[in-house]
Amino acid sequence: MGKIATILFLCSMVIVQGIDEGPKAVEHWFKNLSQKKEKITKLHFYLHDTVSGKNPTAIQVAQANTTSQSPTLFGATLVLDDKLTVGPETNSTIIGRAQGIYASAGMEELSLLMTLNYVFTCGEYNGSTLSILGRNPIFHMYREMPIVGGSGVFRLARGIATAKTYWLNTTSFDAIVEYNVIVIHYE
Ligand SMILES: *[C@@H]1O[C@H](CO)[C@@H](O)[C@H](O)[C@H]1NC(C)=O
Ligand SMILES: *[C@@H]1O[C@H](CO)[C@@H](O)[C@H](O)[C@H]1NC(C)=O
Ligand SMILES: *[C@@H]1O[C@H](CO)[C@@H](O)[C@H](O)[C@H]1NC(C)=O
Ligand SMILES: *[C@@H]1O[C@H](CO)[C@@H](O)[C@H](O)[C@H]1NC(C)=O
Ligand SMILES: *[C@@H]1O[C@H](CO)[C@@H](O)[C@H](O)[C@H]1NC(C)=O
Repeated sequence: MGKIATILFLCSMVIVQGIDEGPKAVEHWFKNLSQKKEKITKLHFYLHDTVSGKNPTAIQVAQANTTSQSPTLFGATLVLDDKLTVGPETNSTIIGRAQGIYASAGMEELSLLMTLNYVFTCGEYNGSTLSILGRNPIFHMYREMPIVGGSGVFRLARGIATAKTYWLNTTSFDAIVEYNVIVIHYE
């Protein structure tokens, strides 16, 4: 395995040539896969999950008739389009979005099923995505979630996203969450 490339979300104004996503280009990419080298990329960003107020970025779309009586809100299902930023401040530079669904899937402990994509909008990762499918017990210090795939520069990616709550409003459940992501993908 090669060296680990770190992060950089230097969200520069430089236009980076997008990756060719046409079917022929994808087929060519697969045919040449055996000649490609694996590489490890680390990403670091903050996710802003806003469920309250006038402009929520996560909206409840479903629940069971028992959800409101459940101590873990079992069955509550939300669709999110949360911003991802370089730093934890609300005005920090946006590097992408987290788009998908999370649902309360633990009856005993508040634990979310996360099914979402990180959609990067910045620099060399602009237009590329990573797909997350994992368990997020939100009151644990660290939550480890599998990266199960990706697109663009992250084709056939696999890895781990580690979440740590940076800030949580325990009344509204608005949160800012720090993510460290490490993925294996191809040069
Ligand atoms: C396949 O990929 C390797 C490494 O990226 C590159 O050097 C080579 O030119 C590619 N071959 C073809 C046929 O595109
Ligand atoms: C919830 O719905 C189920 C199925 O319709 C019903 O059997 C149950 O009594 C309902 N429970 C409550 C708390 O309303
Ligand atoms: C964010 O806002 C703070 C004050 O509210 C300001 O000091 C800082 O420069 C701002 N940062 C950016 C990246 O705009
Ligand atoms: C990202 O890509 C889109 C569409 O390809 C382009 O309009 C936009 O300017 C790019 N943004 C950055 C920061 O490179
Ligand atoms: C936490 O959320 C509650 C309910 O939305 C709100 O009234 C309160 O101001 C929030 N606290 C902070 C520190 O943002």
